[in-house]
Amino acid sequence: MRSSFIAQLFIAATTLASPAQKRDTVTAQVNFSNNTGSPQHLASGLLYGIPNTLNQIPSEFYNDIGYNYERAGGAQIPSPGLGWIWGVAEYENRFASVLSNYQTAREYGANFILLIHDLWGADGTQNSSAPYPGDDGDWSSWDEYLSYLFTDLKDNDMTTSLIVDLWNEPDGAGFWGRSQSQYLEMWGRTYYKFRDEFSTDVLLSGPASAGEPLASNTWWEAWASFVAANDSIPDQYAWHMESGTGDLLSSHAGLLYWQSTYGLPSKPININEYAVFDEQVPAGSAWWISQLERIDAHGLRGNWLSGYELHDFMASLLSKPGADTSSYSATATGYFPNGDYQTYKYYYQNMTGYRVGTLPSSDLKLDAYATVGDDGYARVLVGVRITEGTWELQLNDLSSLDLPTSGTLDIKTWGFPVNADDTHYGEVDGPTNLGVVAHTYSDNTVTFPVYQTDTTTAYAFEFAI
Ligand SMILES: *[C@@H]1O[C@H](CO)[C@@H](O)[C@H](O)[C@H]1NC(C)=O
Ligand SMILES: *[C@@H]1O[C@H](CO)[C@@H](O)[C@H](O)[C@H]1NC(C)=O
Ligand SMILES: *[C@@H]1O[C@H](CO)[C@@H](O)[C@H](O)[C@H]1NC(C)=O
Ligand SMILES: *[C@@H]1O[C@H](CO)[C@@H](O)[C@H](O)[C@H]1NC(C)=O
Ligand SMILES: *[C@@H]1O[C@H](CO)[C@@H](O)[C@H](O)[C@H]1NC(C)=O
Repeated sequence: MRSSFIAQLFIAATTLASPAQKRDTVTAQVNFSNNTGSPQHLASGLLYGIPNTLNQIPSEFYNDIGYNYERAGGAQIPSPGLGWIWGVAEYENRFASVLSNYQTAREYGANFILLIHDLWGADGTQNSSAPYPGDDGDWSSWDEYLSYLFTDLKDNDMTTSLIVDLWNEPDGAGFWGRSQSQYLEMWGRTYYKFRDEFSTDVLLSGPASAGEPLASNTWWEAWASFVAANDSIPDQYAWHMESGTGDLLSSHAGLLYWQSTYGLPSKPININEYAVFDEQVPAGSAWWISQLERIDAHGLRGNWLSGYELHDFMASLLSKPGADTSSYSATATGYFPNGDYQTYKYYYQNMTGYRVGTLPSSDLKLDAYATVGDDGYARVLVGVRITEGTWELQLNDLSSLDLPTSGTLDIKTWGFPVNADDTHYGEVDGPTNLGVVAHTYSDNTVTFPVYQTDTTTAYAFEFAI
């Protein structure tokens, strides 16, 4: 398709300065004849990010991005809220944070993933003598904890749209300082306790591993083999994408490998922590949105803040006076959006209609998410994975949009920058209109360069159909 076309390299849709590095064979693609269904803005979930005071963040900030998934368990609340392993009072105060976050999620119709490891007290700040479920073969404390929790979930009407993660990152010492076999026994016991108590009214999720389900991952092999034999297959397959490397086409292929190896059924996928902090900028978010939408996985933004800031800022989409300084106040208001927020707002509010299939560039650096709107505009959001250079974007099968197979296409570009003075905490109130460029095209396809002269800006290309 491209070879007949290479002679006519068109003017960039962007009006940016010339590129640092040319990558002219590296092209992301959009296939406008491949309708992949209605947008559900699958990437609009958050790990923590919600204050413990109800309604502290004004509702427009949740509504404008179509916030749809929350994951929390009271982590990093100071005493008297340290969790079960410090005593019942410390558990009850941590539960109050969970309840408040659950109520916020439900106010916006979002699903809620409960982190029972955090409520237990293994939130990553636990000391080296912290107990784990089943230590020395003794499950009594864990059983008692679960019975308190079951009562609290019922007494507080918390079972609607509730998903329970049966531990977080059990494949790393930060959250599970014990053997995998002790973890698997915990999984098998806890899975059946929840099922016995709530049937499938409360969904179960896991393993929420730090590692991807690649065919080479022996931890995943032991997990997949155990849940198949134990018949304790979760309602959602969950893992994390927070290493700064890896991609979802590869890890999805790995999941399919484990499914076929152990006869595990297909279930919804939830990447319930995605992106490292440096990737939490418009370019990185557009890249992750494209990756998640391609495999129809829900995604929740990772959260790289700690203490009360973990419970604020919607996982680094917002800021407020005093943010990230010694004068930070957990209860202060005055919220404003950062640059990354604007990417999610456009993704939710403007990328309507139906989705179409895309392919990332072969080096996996540029990825694209595309929709065909019922307002008469096609839109393509692109982002690079925190790299500078020049890539190309190829829009195929234009005739499926009732456009002629050759002619001129006027493409408008929006830039989604970060605040130049403060990437994560600086205010940005909307995308930048970078103007319209007329592209001559033929053979039912148009290709143009994307000049990435910084590592943070995402771009959206729009044209009338
Ligand atoms: C584009 O999508 C259509 C419809 O799904 C498919 O028939 C066609 O093969 C795709 N084109 C490419 C190049 O993948
Ligand atoms: C370590 O944490 C446990 C609770 O997990 C607590 O009982 C114990 O006092 C703590 N030890 C120290 C030295 O802080
Ligand atoms: C699943 O594993 C748990 C923990 O080892 C065990 O107690 C339970 O009996 C197992 N259930 C089945 C159906 O194998
Ligand atoms: C996105 O849609 C909203 C709501 O229709 C509209 O107000 C806004 O101008 C649009 N933004 C862009 C960048 O087109
Ligand atoms: C359509 O797009 C989806 C998502 O990107 C992809 O999985 C599928 O293979 C594509 N279908 C065709 C026929 O190209």
